[in-house]
Amino acid sequence: MRTLLIVAHPRPGALIHAMAQRFARKVEQLGGELELVDLYRDGFDPVVRVDEYDGWRSQEVPEDVAAYQSRLKQAQNLVLAYPVWWATPPAIMQGWLQRVMTHGFAFSFGEKGAQGHLQLKAGLLVNVGSPDDTLAAEYLEPIQGVLKYCGVEDIRTCVNWGIYPGADGGKAKRALRMAEEFAVEFV
Ligand SMILES: Cc1cc2nc3c(=O)[nH]c(=O)nc-3n(C[C@H](O)[C@H](O)[C@H](O)COP(=O)(O)O)c2cc1C
Repeated sequence: MRTLLIVAHPRPGALIHAMAQRFARKVEQLGGELELVDLYRDGFDPVVRVDEYDGWRSQEVPEDVAAYQSRLKQAQNLVLAYPVWWATPPAIMQGWLQRVMTHGFAFSFGEKGAQGHLQLKAGLLVNVGSPDDTLAAEYLEPIQGVLKYCGVEDIRTCVNWGIYPGADGGKAKRALRMAEEFAVEFV
């Protein structure tokens, strides 16, 4: 099984990057294939361009989008790793979803309305500053909704609450352990 792991955080030393590395290592140890994409390191441009917007039904996509779509086609799993920023993933990841999940690739409109095309299992590996886990629906459902719209039925989550810079080291250790345990679900 091949997993495409997309990470969004500007600071290479951030906890979510360490968690993504742990996740990746565990998947590989268990015999899975893993491709890690660091959107900041890629210099991904998250802004939908006017030609993309106007041509959304044409199925012609810019080169950078086509490259990510081809990597997605080779994967059976898609895992998004990010911190929650104002109840959503960082803009670079929102833009990745907005630009890469295009009509004709991720979904299309048929007789029965919108139909998702992604036959993937998905995972959300998420850090949240607040310790209040009753915010789960508010914070996660919009992204789960995007994936469901695109046909993904199996969406697993691993959410670490109360994670913020300077939080006690025990929380970081636990988050790393949880990332490793989460990896087992993708092999
Ligand atoms: C711009 C910004 C917005 C944030 N918004 C939220 C928020 O809406 N809710 C919340 O609980 N934490 C919020 N946080 C805190 C982050 O979720 C927290 O710092 C992060 O999970 C820490 O993980 P990391 O070390 O992997 O970055 C925000 C942080 C930043 C920088």
